[in-house]
Amino acid sequence: MTICYQAQRDKAKLFEAGQLLKNGGTVVFPTETVYGLGANGLDADAVQKIFDAKGRPSDNPLILHITTRTWLNRLICQPPALLESLIDAFWPGPLTLVLKKSSIVPDVVTAGLDTVAIRMPDHPVARAIIEAANLPIAAPSANLSGSPSPTKAAHVIADMMGRVDMIIDDGDVVHGLESTVLDISGEVPILLRPGAVTYEQLVAICGEVQLDPAMMAHSTMVKPRSPGMKYRHYAPHADVFVVALERKPDEIAAHIKSLEAKGHKVLYVDYPAERLANQLFALFRAADQEGYDIILVKAVSTDQIGLAVMNRLLKAANYKII
Ligand code: TXA
Ligand code: MG
Repeated sequence: MTICYQAQRDKAKLFEAGQLLKNGGTVVFPTETVYGLGANGLDADAVQKIFDAKGRPSDNPLILHITTRTWLNRLICQPPALLESLIDAFWPGPLTLVLKKSSIVPDVVTAGLDTVAIRMPDHPVARAIIEAANLPIAAPSANLSGSPSPTKAAHVIADMMGRVDMIIDDGDVVHGLESTVLDISGEVPILLRPGAVTYEQLVAICGEVQLDPAMMAHSTMVKPRSPGMKYRHYAPHADVFVVALERKPDEIAAHIKSLEAKGHKVLYVDYPAERLANQLFALFRAADQEGYDIILVKAVSTDQIGLAVMNRLLKAANYKII
């Protein structure tokens, strides 16, 4: 049965959510990045329920969410030298680290890889639930596979009602894009997915950080290292186009006019990077509801949070730039 719980931060309910996870159930909960769909990360049957609820391909591995160093130590082996300074700088927070896994991590979590992705969220509700379960909680974004990640409880209810055991409604998330994913299992750290912890911040700690070449390029041309990055993600039903930075306002206006003359309902979005990061996914869902069939989004420069914004935007646009 789905319990859709509105009263936020009720300690007894959060404890109940933890027990549900412990007993093999699924719970949708807020994190500071996006809403997550959680299950006991050490229980292969429970984790399978996540894939079923989302319709997620089984070759796409999950992130384990923890709140303690004790659990980190149990889940990994061969910790690299950089681990301590990255944790000091960014945990708890929107940074996921990919590390060599220990034998207790089930294959269904890692899609058979020898590495595991781990994150320590910085959200009081997420932390309370994880602590109540006292387990690593596997949690992808709580959207149906292929839809934009949920940043509001209404998105979760639209996608997951009836598919999970419990939904915790805590209003809007803080960031609005998924966490930064950094692979530190090899010689040089590799940024697999940009997010609120920026490339610039990572370089300041790590010295050298490589960008996964697939990050900003068409995924059929370059095979991404992060299995999840190869899917067309984050996409609304409307056709999305990126409007190149150099396009002038009169050119854009003329283009919109010609699309409208052909009968299209066009949404044009020109926001600064921070606002796009926070609102892009919500905007996609709202545009679908309001019947827009074309969404044009003005590009932003790829420094700081702009890198994450452009990564999500290019994917949603299937790399179509005008
Ligand atoms: O902000 C977030 O990270 C949210 C919240 C709920 O924590 N979670 C999230 O999970 O975005 P998900 O499953 O939607 O994205 C996980 C990403 C995918 O791109 C996946 O391929 C990658 O992390 N990933 C997971 N394990 C990996 C591994 N061992 N090696 C490389 N990439 C991995
Ligand atoms: Mg996702």
